[in-house]
Amino acid sequence: MSIIADDNDFVAKKDDVKNPVTKPEVIKESDRAFENSIRPQTFDSYIGQSALLDTLKITIEASKKRGKTLDHLLFYGPPGLGKTTLAGVIGNEMGVAVKITSAPALERPRDIIGILMSLEEGQILFIDEIHRLNKVAEEILYPAMEDFYLDMTTGKSQTVKTLRVTLPKFTLIGATTKAGELSGPLRDRFGIIHRLQFYTYEELAKVIKRTADLLEVDIDNDACYAIARRSRGTPRIANRLIKRVSDYAIVKYDGKINADISNEALDLLHIDEFGLDSTDRNLLNLIIEKFDGGPVGLETIAAALGEDSRTLEDVCEPYLLQCGLIQRTPRGRKATPEAYRHLGYKSLNLEQQSLF
Ligand SMILES: Nc1ncnc2c1ncn2[C@@H]1O[C@H](COP(=O)(O)OP(=O)(O)O)[C@@H](O)[C@H]1O
Ligand SMILES: [Mg+2]
Repeated sequence: MSIIADDNDFVAKKDDVKNPVTKPEVIKESDRAFENSIRPQTFDSYIGQSALLDTLKITIEASKKRGKTLDHLLFYGPPGLGKTTLAGVIGNEMGVAVKITSAPALERPRDIIGILMSLEEGQILFIDEIHRLNKVAEEILYPAMEDFYLDMTTGKSQTVKTLRVTLPKFTLIGATTKAGELSGPLRDRFGIIHRLQFYTYEELAKVIKRTADLLEVDIDNDACYAIARRSRGTPRIANRLIKRVSDYAIVKYDGKINADISNEALDLLHIDEFGLDSTDRNLLNLIIEKFDGGPVGLETIAAALGEDSRTLEDVCEPYLLQCGLIQRTPRGRKATPEAYRHLGYKSLNLEQQSLF
């Protein structure tokens, strides 16, 4: 199925039917190489998240002055906001290597033991999706994080012996989209726990300008803002959009990007001026039309849309909440008057208005 006329195929590629450009949780192999090539490496090139950076700079400086390893850090927040990037930046600023893994790769005890034993003094271990660690791996991690040792058992039932192995002092950086799913004991072992925020338009415009410069793309300031406004507060999306807009500008124009060209290209991607894609709009339309504006439970919404409820909760919803388009209530989700306005519904009836 092609959602857009053929001559626009360079904008709407076949696998974009569900609009993965705007889905920060879906990363294609080709995107991965692109992302790695443009990741900021230092605090100076890492845009936004200023409260977090201020804390980190002080912590890093203090740990350097004391000659001590950095405290364990936990970053959480929706995908694409810069958690992995930040782990790399911290490694560079500390002058230490970062070993990257993710919880699903640590299925067997020997996976986590192997990686812990391979660490050197001061190094950083980055565990992505840390809420998915299994119980056994977590329990191996507790003494490793707290006192830097591992207890390993050898031998069979009657001759079982415990061997205590001392580990070098390392820093664990955990990243998750679901801080709520982390067990209490694991959470408590992090010195700093920080939520990454959605980026402002101004910050995203800077991300876009930086990426355009790296790609040697000619873009004006208004175009940076035009793309920023539709990037869902997320650098990963901003970077994808600038690439798409740049393709469009090369094919249709002379390659230079202004606001009109950006808007034209983004309209073709079906991303509206809030950065909402078809999933977001379907979700809002559903709440408004089928459930009288809500409240309606997330599972019901997911079933009706044929979407995964976790993805809706972790990715779709945080941004819709941030934009003030939905409200979370104990009885489910509600569309706000802003959502009615944005989708072009005339107005709420009086009874609905009184609920806000
Ligand atoms: N603060 C930032 N400044 C500039 N670019 C950023 C920033 N945060 C993220 N990015 C870009 O966005 C992309 C996604 O970031 P990433 O760290 O992989 O997100 P997460 O790990 O939170 O899903 C990367 O390619 C990176 O270049
Ligand atoms: Mg990541």
